[in-house]
Amino acid sequence: MTTGPQDLIHPDDTLADLAAAVHDCRGCGLWSDATQAVFGEGPPKAPVMLVGEQPGDVEDRRGHPFVGPAGLMLRSCMAEAGLAEDQVWMTNVVKHFRWKPKGKRRIHHTPAAEHIHACRPWLDAELERLRPDVLVCLGAVAAQTLIDKDFKVSQDRGRLMPGPYGNVLATVHPSSLLRAPDGKARLKARADFVADLQVVVRHLAGHARAASA
Ligand code: URA
Ligand code: SF4
Repeated sequence: MTTGPQDLIHPDDTLADLAAAVHDCRGCGLWSDATQAVFGEGPPKAPVMLVGEQPGDVEDRRGHPFVGPAGLMLRSCMAEAGLAEDQVWMTNVVKHFRWKPKGKRRIHHTPAAEHIHACRPWLDAELERLRPDVLVCLGAVAAQTLIDKDFKVSQDRGRLMPGPYGNVLATVHPSSLLRAPDGKARLKARADFVADLQVVVRHLAGHARAASA
């Protein structure tokens, strides 16, 4: 039997315990071509959890989530929206990088249903420990995993909805901003993404006001 989440996750594990244990996971085939697992990071009491798809090339080599080009775009948009990094736990649906070679480059491949299913206990374990006030799904893979399999990010983005884990909001993946065809489209895509993050910021501010009233 291979070692998977069922062997590695225990009820009283903290987020730090889980982050250490995930390195032994062989729950699906993705570990074998990846450098290392990339677990979520952030303050363990963060009110917001951001969920992307899977680590990218840079994340795989460095071992931290959202530190490559899409991650830098995300962090810059968060700063513009007023969403502080110390309010946010950042993670991914799948913890190992799925890629195919193209010349010398490693090209991202979207995880398959079997990888998402196999990795799900890690994400659920993060959610159960963090219990975020707002869960933000970045892109279709996160939204279809955590909200509804038919969820259309393009149609239903930027709305705070009650979800099985508290409030949930979906938006596009920050990598889509990097793929905008020209400068004008990129500015628009960025402004729309910042506006979605501001929905979260306003929600948090409303809570802070209610708590101090
Ligand atoms: N894209 C993701 O979805 N997650 C990362 O951590 C980096 C890029
Ligand atoms: Fe385990 Fe997830 Fe990595 Fe698959 S992708 S080996 S389930 S941590």
